[in-house]
Amino acid sequence: MTGADLSHGARAQNAVGLARLARRIEPAVGWDDLVLPAETAAQLREIALRARYRSRVLDEWRMRPGGGRGRGVTALFAGDSGTGKTMSAEVIAADLGLDLYTVDLSSVIDKYVGETEKNLERIFTEAAGVNGVLLFDEADAIFGKRSEVRDAHDRYANVESAYLLQRMESFDGLALLATNLRANLDPALTRRLDLVVDFPVPDAEHRRALWDRCLGRRIPRAGELDLAFCAEAFELSGGNIRSAVVAAAYLAASADRPVGTADLVAGVFREYRKLGRLTLEAEFGPFYAQLQ
Ligand SMILES: Nc1ncnc2c1ncn2[C@@H]1O[C@H](COP(=O)(O)OP(=O)(O)O)[C@@H](O)[C@H]1O
Ligand SMILES: [Mg+2]
Repeated sequence: MTGADLSHGARAQNAVGLARLARRIEPAVGWDDLVLPAETAAQLREIALRARYRSRVLDEWRMRPGGGRGRGVTALFAGDSGTGKTMSAEVIAADLGLDLYTVDLSSVIDKYVGETEKNLERIFTEAAGVNGVLLFDEADAIFGKRSEVRDAHDRYANVESAYLLQRMESFDGLALLATNLRANLDPALTRRLDLVVDFPVPDAEHRRALWDRCLGRRIPRAGELDLAFCAEAFELSGGNIRSAVVAAAYLAASADRPVGTADLVAGVFREYRKLGRLTLEAEFGPFYAQLQ
């Protein structure tokens, strides 16, 4: 038994409590798997770098930001569903050699005053013994901007967000927030974070790369497979493309043939239905007739 075995064992043991409160993801993706604009990717690398060197910069060199902040590195990921926020957190965790723990903030919120903090406190107490990256999803559930105070709980919500921020800052590691609703966030929150990273919806060029990345290297591709058509024709997020590819792979597997354009288009058709989007002949082109 080596030291590494021991520390791995200790980590697993410590993680049991946290795993009851958060979903644990063992990272299996790397930087090369991400399809993002250069600026977004650079910001993600900066987060990983800050997490890695924070003890040197903050402790040894005493570069503490003002306001009595702790040693935690904090960031917000903002972008539509399926743009790669969770995956990016996974890549950063992999880069740091840590597991990722995701917490759905909307499930932490309790309507009774003080209960939300108790739930958060439990999470941070468990997390303290675990060397992991924390990702709080649905951040708008707590940080949503309230233009008017409607009831006692609305007034109290500011106390909850202040509490979460303070715990994130004093967390001895990397704590991330994710939201699909950027416009809805209080600027007082975003000012307090180390970084705010925007995840744009992919343009045609990035969609093309996403189709290619999601197909991967193992699946047999038909000679006529036209990823450029799929990328140009359908405005989809990476998450939608991923689901369409999985559906296409099943079609190809069950027909015992390489995956072709018609399979991908059938996958897209299925995604459109799921999203409640109109399936227009103009978008589906020559494949439209077969799909009805
Ligand atoms: N930018 C991206 N680069 C590569 N793959 C992506 C990207 N965005 C989404 N995907 C694919 O879609 C899946 C779902 O994305 P996810 O990270 O869960 O999105 P979000 O958390 O923003 O809703 C990922 O596991 C990946 O397969
Ligand atoms: Mg997500």
